Amino acid sequence: MSVSPLVDRWIVLKFGGTSVSRRHRWNTIGELAKKRADETGGRVLVVVSALSGVTNELTAIADGAADSRERVAALVARHNEFLAELELGIDVLAERLAALQALLDDPRAARRPLDWQAEVLGQGELLSSTIGAAYLRSTGLDFGWMDARDWLHALPPAPNQTEWSQRLSVNCQWQGEAGFRQRFSAQPTRMLISQGFIARHGDGGTAILGRGGSDTSAAYFGALLGASRVEIWTDVPGMFSANPRDVPDARLLTRLDYYEAQEIATTGAKVLHPRSIKPCRDAGVPMAILDTERSHLPGTSIDGSAEPVPGVKAISRRNGIVLVSMEGIGMWQQVGFLADVFDLFRRHGLSVDLIGSAETNVTVSLDPSENLVSTDVLAALSADLSEICKVKVIVPCAAITLVGRGMRSLLHKLSDVWATFGKERVHMISQSSNDLNLTFVIDEADADGLLPILHDELIESGAMPVYEEQVFGPRWREINGAVRPRPVPWWQAPAKRRRLLELAAQGTPAYVYDLPTVRERARQLQAIGAIDRRFYAIKANPHPAILRALAAEGFGLECVSLGEVEHVFAALPDFDPARVLFTPSFAPIGEYEAVLARGANVTVDNVELLHHWPEVFRGRALWLRIDLGHGDGHHKKVNTGGKDAKFGLSAQRVDEFVAAARALDIRITGVHAHLGSGIENSSHWKQMVDEMAGFARRIGSVEILDIGGGLPVPYSDDDEPFDLEAWAVGLAEIKAVHPAFRLAIEPGRFMVAEAGVLLARATQVVEKDGVRRVGLDAGMNALLRPALYDAWHDIANLSRLDDARDVDFSVVGPICESSDVFAQRVKLPSTTAPADVMLIADAGAYGYSMASRYNHRALPREDVIDDA
Ligand code: LLP
Repeated sequence: MSVSPLVDRWIVLKFGGTSVSRRHRWNTIGELAKKRADETGGRVLVVVSALSGVTNELTAIADGAADSRERVAALVARHNEFLAELELGIDVLAERLAALQALLDDPRAARRPLDWQAEVLGQGELLSSTIGAAYLRSTGLDFGWMDARDWLHALPPAPNQTEWSQRLSVNCQWQGEAGFRQRFSAQPTRMLISQGFIARHGDGGTAILGRGGSDTSAAYFGALLGASRVEIWTDVPGMFSANPRDVPDARLLTRLDYYEAQEIATTGAKVLHPRSIKPCRDAGVPMAILDTERSHLPGTSIDGSAEPVPGVKAISRRNGIVLVSMEGIGMWQQVGFLADVFDLFRRHGLSVDLIGSAETNVTVSLDPSENLVSTDVLAALSADLSEICKVKVIVPCAAITLVGRGMRSLLHKLSDVWATFGKERVHMISQSSNDLNLTFVIDEADADGLLPILHDELIESGAMPVYEEQVFGPRWREINGAVRPRPVPWWQAPAKRRRLLELAAQGTPAYVYDLPTVRERARQLQAIGAIDRRFYAIKANPHPAILRALAAEGFGLECVSLGEVEHVFAALPDFDPARVLFTPSFAPIGEYEAVLARGANVTVDNVELLHHWPEVFRGRALWLRIDLGHGDGHHKKVNTGGKDAKFGLSAQRVDEFVAAARALDIRITGVHAHLGSGIENSSHWKQMVDEMAGFARRIGSVEILDIGGGLPVPYSDDDEPFDLEAWAVGLAEIKAVHPAFRLAIEPGRFMVAEAGVLLARATQVVEKDGVRRVGLDAGMNALLRPALYDAWHDIANLSRLDDARDVDFSVVGPICESSDVFAQRVKLPSTTAPADVMLIADAGAYGYSMASRYNHRALPREDVIDDA
């Protein structure tokens, strides 16, 4: 075919070891190459690595392994087997395999000079590309083969470059190669295959690009050819906002600029070799990381043309970091002192990563991936340094790095992140001068489990703008198919939706509760055999119809005030007082007296009550609320355990309480704890049972352990439904360990949150400085949770449920407070208009019960739906 060199536009596709080791993968390579050629009307260069594992074998041989001959024989056999799998003749590789064997008989083999080693190391790619070319041609594709060494030339040695890196970790010429594209394009075939990892040395021999070299080869080709794109095909979907193995909620990063990508590749993600970015950046060639097995995913695009999006893009952890702390009284002022220090690092072949300095101390970190930091090297370095200062080596450390554009202007959003680090011993904090990263160095052991917490905090605080859809893609868990989706909400069923619109017509704002949903939750908990008693925490929603529905399902009712107790008996006059649990906090003593007089179960949570009002409690059976010393929950304001919480008797004072109770003839029949609300970790309650059983045994008379409420509900698409099954299994297991006790729970949110919606009418739709706002006739007075806890509630336009949700809205209320915002950046139909009925979802718990008449606005109406 005739091609005009001038119009040829190249696209470079690179495939790694796992992508070239199986026949079906080669079929994919062929399909992708052809597709790209057809799509762009241009030409395709495929750059490949060696078959997986082959470079490791060749490295051992180059290093002079005693069994090199056996290794070579095994490599020959492996490649011949692969030819058979591909139904290719053995002659395809005959010459190349002979060349590999000949290298062992080469006179240089005994001394193993670097040029010989480079030749050995380069064989893997020569073999894989030769196989590939033959196979792709056998499938009818128009592929040519070329030796990369004819095109990529190692740069002359740089100052301080070791002999080793001048041969085995070279950089190549990628700029100003006039006529490269024309000469390259003169190859007759439309598609070409060549090798990664190898180049031509200045002496005409082979040079090696070092680890990750195939990515860099592709980038060099891309830059030299002025390619339209360099695609790195691998076996992961791209770069993520954190290592998905540590953080399953990590997001795929779909678009990065070169500098951010460089920083992420350097500090964490192993998907792309950091060295490969600069050539493409300088030449303005866009890059993409794509997944060979999941080619439908968007992958990560890296280019310089996107409008930069400020914010943290990724958080990473590097282990094995070595800190060298140098203390030198008065020496730092001396001219040339630092130069002397760094000269020692240079002499030991160590390149320094981070630097922190004070008047009498300089601390530097060494990254093991850049350095050979063996104990020997460190000992030698320390010995030399100790001549001029006091040295302390701190190992092993972890470097935790936040990467993203505009780090300095993000500091105010990082307060939770700082607080989390504040709980650990931070050895060093370093902010890069390019404003792209912020690194914390801590002990390696302290870093375990920290990344998921930090990743969550970055999202919560808005520092990691995951709502920026052009940058953040799906979560790893979603890609991996490991997400249990939220059920479709009841209010989307057409009949319910019609009913809601009718109810809205009777007046808004209005809370509407769907009783079938409440009953469904009740039955889910009734089915859990390990639980003996269930109390509904009525503070979540004391609507009489809900109390009656749950009482009918066999639930007891948990109250925290005399008002709640009286409300229960008003709604259910015949309710058995023994099914009422009273768990107040700092309530007036009269409330305890009144509730005891009614015959309900009472929980006390301090010993001062007994000291001050002995006669109120004398001779009673009571439950004791203990603070187990730790808490949890969806927000710090709902964490009810630990030293800072006002709830529960300190574990230190349990014996004192027991003695006081005994003196008053009080029987402690239950131990109670409730450590927070909206706890996602299902093993939390299992741990509680274990801890509480210890106290219960100490007390002696206890029959029941009440592990409180706190079960979460999935408020957003990012939340998964609570894993009730795992929870039930955990409880059954721990109950089997402590068979003497019965178990009680007192959930509020779980029973009613999803059953309730708040209906409000749009008042005004306003655009201001690029932000589109829809105002509602309900505000923070009607639903306080977003203002108080930054809580998320889904919002829908019920009047236009079938319209596309195509624009971002901020949804606000009519209250004169800046926190009167239900949500920012909610996708709603652009057609949203005044008088539309808007629905705020999952508002059945802590909605109406926390509503107020602030600004003299009326309380919302309440309605109940009780049909299927
Ligand atoms: N038991 C006791 C002693 C409690 O204090 C609470 C809630 C519960 C049970 C029920 O917890 P649940 O299962 O609903 O998590 N207003 C906050 C929640 C505060 C919870 C207060 N105590 C919110 O809207 O998230």
